[in-house]
Amino acid sequence: MNTAIIFATKHGCTEKCSQKLANELKDNTTILNLESAKEIDLNHFDVLVLGGSIHAGTINRSLKKFIEKNLNQLIEKKVGLFLCCMEEGEKALEQFNNAFPEELRKISKANGFFGGAFDFEQMNFFEKAIIKKIANIEDSYSKINYQNISAFALELSK
Ligand SMILES: Cc1cc2nc3c(=O)[nH]c(=O)nc-3n(C[C@H](O)[C@H](O)[C@H](O)COP(=O)(O)O)c2cc1C
Repeated sequence: MNTAIIFATKHGCTEKCSQKLANELKDNTTILNLESAKEIDLNHFDVLVLGGSIHAGTINRSLKKFIEKNLNQLIEKKVGLFLCCMEEGEKALEQFNNAFPEELRKISKANGFFGGAFDFEQMNFFEKAIIKKIANIEDSYSKINYQNISAFALELSK
């Protein structure tokens, strides 16, 4: 089985989670960053994992566009969907439902909430100011949920 993890990231957390997931999947797995990947031929892959992060309530624009463009092909594949975000519970679920269209969520074999990270080294001035105020923190902080990544890999492999 050929698997592709197609992701978008702003500060690198989703990339880190994609690499961790690739290590957990037994299949032949390719990791593709939507910022740098040129044309992606979905015909090469049997399994497609789509991952992105939430900023100000919304999913990465490049991932949204990719899904819109390829939706008809995506729904014919074995698909897994994951999010990196700092919200948890109901709020995280709401963000997930807004990020991925219903057609895709309906056929998805595995849905994952991989947690997230605030990386001050990667943020611009405004982002730092917002996060310091909202999250009330001064330093970088990670709560990547490695257990959820393992559980997602297991679910997708079934
Ligand atoms: C400016 C900013 C806004 C954010 N807004 C949200 C948000 O609305 N909801 C949320 O759950 N997480 C939010 N986050 C947390 C990100 O989802 C988290 O940092 C994630 O790990 C980013 O992944 P990335 O580095 O792959 O882009 C925000 C982070 C930043 C820096």
